[in-house]
Amino acid sequence: MTAENVISIDLRSDTVTKPSAEMRAAMASAEVGDDVFRDDPTILALETRMARMSGKEAALFVPSGTMGNLICVLAHCSERGSEVLLGDRAHIHLYEQGGVSQLGGVHPRTVKNNDDGTFCLKELELKIRGDDPHYPVTRLVAFENSQNKCGGRSIPVQWIKQLRELCNKYGLALHCDGARIFNSCISQGISLETYLEDCDSASICFSKGLGCPVGSVIVGTNELIRKAIRLRKVLGGGMRQSGILAGAAIYALDNMIDRLADDHKHAKQLAQAINDSGKNRFKVDLSGVDTNIVIMWVDPDTTTPDQVVKALEEGEVNVRTIQFAADLVRFVFHAMISTAEAEMATKKTVQVIQQFINQ
Ligand SMILES: Cc1ncc(COP(=O)(O)O)c(C=O)c1O
Repeated sequence: MTAENVISIDLRSDTVTKPSAEMRAAMASAEVGDDVFRDDPTILALETRMARMSGKEAALFVPSGTMGNLICVLAHCSERGSEVLLGDRAHIHLYEQGGVSQLGGVHPRTVKNNDDGTFCLKELELKIRGDDPHYPVTRLVAFENSQNKCGGRSIPVQWIKQLRELCNKYGLALHCDGARIFNSCISQGISLETYLEDCDSASICFSKGLGCPVGSVIVGTNELIRKAIRLRKVLGGGMRQSGILAGAAIYALDNMIDRLADDHKHAKQLAQAINDSGKNRFKVDLSGVDTNIVIMWVDPDTTTPDQVVKALEEGEVNVRTIQFAADLVRFVFHAMISTAEAEMATKKTVQVIQQFINQ
């Protein structure tokens, strides 16, 4: 089979999206200036819009979600000997190289994530540490919405409110890793402002479901953003004519949010098809498919995730996925996957499942 005959459907992540012709046109026509001088009109327009949308005083464009989280944690934990409490399946904890401790000297302490992306508030409360010379001082709690490692779960607003009350009781700040928060907004029908009402800061990505090539925005108080501007510079994230990137983000705010519902629909269809064909040897927790992510459990007596990933890539329809844990495969739907391609990917997945079940 020649490469031209192969249909490639890349479900490894929503980060693989490439800017559309329309998005590229918006980038090309963006007015620019020097953002380190705070002179770039398109960056300033994006930040003003994001501050307004999130109900916060201010916003700041940063190159990545990793930097956005790092800046927020360091801004809240600027005193040496500070601690952040976060879920044990948090991206900040698992996939950001321990940057908060490596670069910021902040001590991370985990609370076990529930499968719905929340964590037990009793456990959290027991882990909060005050001014005892034996311990770091807890200053920040961070959670993720949607929670990637828990399968893209949208976090219930009621739970965030309870978490806020706990933070208030102990004088702690609350940060949201909102890399995919627009997915949660669309899935739950909740505005960005409502979702972030109880958070002191959030980092929101444009380079995932919203399809931009680069960029995140952090939101918070004027004072947090003042600190964030200093931290962004020292981390090497101060960019000059970055309005071309903000142009893409503004295009995404106008055109890419509502369509996330399609990705969620495609994810649910795949999940249902896996359960219908999987004979309990390939399974998805259907009630947990809130957004664009599907996590498939693979029975170890049947096969392994790496074998499934390989089989999905063979043949005319090449479906690319990733092994997500020793017994899990992850599929992520995004703007570059049409309904026809989602259907093809679902069909291919069912074929692969049947192949393993029948062997
Ligand atoms: C939940 C979450 N937070 C943060 C990030 C980091 O974003 P970036 O890759 O832009 O650094 C990711 C990346 O996939 C993520 O999934």
